[in-house]
Amino acid sequence: MREEVKGTFASVFGKQDGLRFFFAPGRVNIIGEHTDYNGGHVFPCALTIGTFAAVSQRKDRLVRMFSENFKETGVKEFKLDDLCYNKDDDWANYPKGVIFEFQQRGYAIPNGFDIAFSGNIPNGAGLSSSASIELLMAVVLQTYFHPELNALHLVKMAQHAENTFIGVNCGIMDQFAIGMGKKGHAMLLNCDTLSYEYSKLDVSGLSLVIANTNKKRSLAGSSYNARRQECQEALRDLKTELEIASLGELSPSDFDSYAHLIQNETNRRRAKHAVYENDRTIKTAEMFKKNKLDEIGSLMKESHLSLKNDYEVTSPELDELAYAAWSHEGVIGSRMTGAGFGGCTISIVKDQAVEDFIEKAGAAYKERTGIKADFYVADIGEGARELKGD
Ligand code: GLA
Repeated sequence: MREEVKGTFASVFGKQDGLRFFFAPGRVNIIGEHTDYNGGHVFPCALTIGTFAAVSQRKDRLVRMFSENFKETGVKEFKLDDLCYNKDDDWANYPKGVIFEFQQRGYAIPNGFDIAFSGNIPNGAGLSSSASIELLMAVVLQTYFHPELNALHLVKMAQHAENTFIGVNCGIMDQFAIGMGKKGHAMLLNCDTLSYEYSKLDVSGLSLVIANTNKKRSLAGSSYNARRQECQEALRDLKTELEIASLGELSPSDFDSYAHLIQNETNRRRAKHAVYENDRTIKTAEMFKKNKLDEIGSLMKESHLSLKNDYEVTSPELDELAYAAWSHEGVIGSRMTGAGFGGCTISIVKDQAVEDFIEKAGAAYKERTGIKADFYVADIGEGARELKGD
C-alpha cells in the first residue's frame, strides 16, 4: 500500500523528495454499540486495514488532496485561511475539518501540503473509514507542527471536528480506537471518564471475521442523530428523580426500577438498550479474560437482538448475516458492529471452521437477500502513526 500511495502521489503531484508516509487503521467494535455517547463502555479494536497517505510540505498556504479511492472526484484544493465545509469537496471535508479544528484551538498550521490518500477499508461498511482519515490528518499535523500534542488530544479533536464540521454527532469510540489501537488488543473504554484498559485478545484457535452486507448504509447520519436525541430525552425524564449525568451510570436493575419515569415508549426502549448494552460490554471484557466463550456468544447475540428490537438500527441484511452465523456450529458469537443501518457484522469463529462459515453463511445470505456478502478475517493492529523505515 505504501508503494501504491507513493505511485499515486507521483502521478498526481509529480515526483518529490522528502515524502513522508502515514497510516491510520479502521476499527471494529466487538461489543458496546451506541453506548459511547451515553456515557457507557465500548470494546473496540483497531484493524490492520486502513488509510495510507504520502505527504509533502508546500511553501505556500495551499492544501491539495487526492484520494485513490475517489479518483473520479479529482484533486481537492483549498487555502489554509479559508476552510469551510463544502459539499463539492466530498470526502476531503473530513481531513479539512481536522485542519480547521487545529486552527480553531490555536494550533497554528504554518504552511500547506500535498497529500495522496489510499485506503483499503470498504467505504460505508461501518468500519470507520471517516474517523480513519480524520486521525490520519491529525497525526500528519501533529508530526509536522505540533509534536507536543498527545494521541488522546488528537482523538478528541478529531471527534469534535466530526461533530461540528461534518455535523455527525458521533461519540468518541471510533476516533479513540483508531488513535489508541494496540496490536492484538481490544480496548475497554469508559466513555464517560475516558479511562481505559487494553485487553489482550488471547483467543488462540479463534478468528474475528467481519462480514460486509454490501448494502450501503442509508440515512445513517440523520437516524444516528435521532437516536442520540431519544436517549437524551429518556435521560431528562430519569433525572426528574435520579441524580445521574448519563445513562451509563445505571445498572440494568436500576433501570428497571426507574424506567416508568420515561414518558415515551420508544425512548424507553432506546435507553434500555444503552443501559443493558453497557452491562453486556463490561461482562464481555471480563469473559474474554476468563476465556468463557459460551458467555461471550450469548452476550453478542443479546446485543444484536437489542440493537434490532429496542434500538432499531439493524437492517434485514444485518439480521440475515447474524442468523446465518448463529446457526453455524463453528461460530462462538456474532452481531452487527458499528452504527448499524447496514454495514457489517463481526463474528468470532473457530479457526478450522472459518472457510466453511464463509461459504455457508455467504450462500445463505445470498439466497435470502440476493446480495453477495464480503468476508474478511480481521487482524488487530496498531493505532494511527507515521510509517518510518521500510
Ligand atoms: C458510530 C459512531 C460511534 C458509535 C457507533 C455506535 O460508529 O461514530 O461514536 O456511536 O456508531 O456504537
